[in-house]
Amino acid sequence: MKQDKESFHHLPVLLDEVLEGLRPFTGGRYVDCTVGGGGHSRAVLQASEPAGRLLGLDQDPAALEAAGKALAPFGSRVTLKKANFRRLLEAAREAGFDQADGVLFDIGVSSPQLDEGERGFSFHQDAPLDMRMDPEGPVTARDLVNGLEAAALTRLLRDYGEERWATRIADFIVRNRPLDTTGQLVEVIKAAIPAAARRTGPHPARRTFQALRIAVNDELGALEEGLGQALDLVRPGGRVAVITFHSLEDRIVKQAMQEWARGCICPPDLPVCVCGRKPRARLVSRKPVTAGEEELSRNPRSRSAKLRLAEKLAPE
Ligand SMILES: C[S@@+](CC[C@H](N)C(=O)[O-])C[C@H]1O[C@@H](n2cnc3c(N)ncnc32)[C@H](O)[C@@H]1O
Repeated sequence: MKQDKESFHHLPVLLDEVLEGLRPFTGGRYVDCTVGGGGHSRAVLQASEPAGRLLGLDQDPAALEAAGKALAPFGSRVTLKKANFRRLLEAAREAGFDQADGVLFDIGVSSPQLDEGERGFSFHQDAPLDMRMDPEGPVTARDLVNGLEAAALTRLLRDYGEERWATRIADFIVRNRPLDTTGQLVEVIKAAIPAAARRTGPHPARRTFQALRIAVNDELGALEEGLGQALDLVRPGGRVAVITFHSLEDRIVKQAMQEWARGCICPPDLPVCVCGRKPRARLVSRKPVTAGEEELSRNPRSRSAKLRLAEKLAPE
């Protein structure tokens, strides 16, 4: 189905929980690093009426166009900017946001990106093997599928897709290339995975597509870089909220936040602290926040969503 830009539709996940976590107030400054269709941003703007301001970033111009329409009623309280959040600090400074009271990341692919068949994110629709969220990005899925050696492809599918049939899929890809379309790739994956294993569980191409998408957009690298900058951007008392959809991303967020919250790292047998290290943030909750029953029944995408929150501490 071709997605009409007017109908860019993406149900924001964990919306109430994000608002409870960010606690927007009038006059506050917020950065939505993944503005998408503007669902979370709209709620933050409403909750910070009348004077809260929001900077929305996205690397996908189609998302920004949709966010521009959705957030138009908020006028000059909103600034939208095409940027990868791996250069969050630079983008925020350019937009006049030297500090923020809250920073949000809602990582991953949006429903419209999946629905716009021609972008190549979906294994349900035949399209060129692209998968770039930023249409100017340097690498496409086609480059990786046709250019990587079998061993590198295997690693990619295993590391980013946790695909147990990685070696077989990589071998089948190498034997059948060049592959130009998502449809051709799906056929090769189906041929590689034994029929018995294909009959149960999710779509056989799901893990391969996830792995390629993560690699094409360097999603894990961008997340690591963006998170560190978010903590720098937020003022003491301000919060960083991150929603992730799979374990690789959640691990990165969990480890980064634990690192922020770590104080003294001196060996326990030292009588006094000599490292001088102080925690930079506190974890708002030890466990990630997940969707409740009502949201789960309304929005299947929320099933794997995890929200983690950290609050920046004032330097001692
Ligand atoms: C799950 S959607 C966000 C949906 C949004 N919260 C809403 O309520 O409509 C994720 C968005 O983040 C964008 N994105 C993913 N990685 C990004 C990055 N590294 N830099 C900037 N935008 C990114 C995608 O293009 C996509 O539009």
